Amino acid sequence: MGLKLNLNYEVMTSLYLSVNSDFMFLVMIGPPGAGKGTQAKRLAETLGLSHVSTGEIFRQNISRKTELGLRVKELLEDGTLVPDDLTIELVQDKIDQLVNGSGAIFDGFPRNLEQAKALDDMLLLHDKGVDLAPLINLSDSNIIERLTGRRTDKDTGKIYHLIYDPPPDNANVEQRSDDKRDTVLRRIEDYHQSTVPMLAYYDDRDLLCEIDGDNTIDQVTTALLEVIRGRVFA
Ligand code: AP5
Repeated sequence: MGLKLNLNYEVMTSLYLSVNSDFMFLVMIGPPGAGKGTQAKRLAETLGLSHVSTGEIFRQNISRKTELGLRVKELLEDGTLVPDDLTIELVQDKIDQLVNGSGAIFDGFPRNLEQAKALDDMLLLHDKGVDLAPLINLSDSNIIERLTGRRTDKDTGKIYHLIYDPPPDNANVEQRSDDKRDTVLRRIEDYHQSTVPMLAYYDDRDLLCEIDGDNTIDQVTTALLEVIRGRVFA
């Protein structure tokens, strides 16, 4: 019997926990603030996948003051993309660690055509490929509201929003340094210039699936799980 479209997030979660898949590789695409991180964390938990966020890796390196962190600190604060060679090298290490697991969901990588092609080459070396590229769409005006209200728990990394998903009183939250209005505008421009031209690369192979990000967090999760069920597990 087929699943009904109105199943809620909790029901979908319990259904997915009983599904076995050898290896699944998803790339989550979308403008800044569309909800990639929020949804990637939920999907990774539900589907038993590793979650890899290049932005998160850069931020961790900045806070640990590593050599990589020192190299990328100013770029992130300005909302400028990190050069491809550095980003691809970082991802190469991750892929080598991940291929023996049950799969991964990448969030924030790839971000342009060159990165998308490099990812395919890296996966191909392990006889694997991208299974699906969910694209979470959100209008520019909504992006600004989402990002200026975002707060992240310093201890757990959990993402909150002051209005839509308020942090508990005792949470140790902070605002990201690249969530200032001017920086957000630069990041949106980068998305249109660098990432939008990449979409055809996945669309041509029928891997791209668009999700409306202007719904509640639970509704977006449910829509993503529906698409994954239909496309990957079919
Ligand atoms: P990265 O961390 O990847 O930032 P981003 O792509 O700009 O995306 P965000 O993390 O800002 O947003 P999100 O889509 O994850 O939204 P979230 O779930 O948090 O990259 C940061 C920087 O690192 C880049 O600028 C660049 O310098 C560098 N970098 C990273 N990857 C790179 C690469 N591949 N190449 C080169 N440079 C790279 O949600 C946002 C807010 O909205 C939250 O408050 C959340 O609670 C709320 N929210 C989420 N969903 C909903 C909903 N449905 N309804 C209401 N509120 C919601």
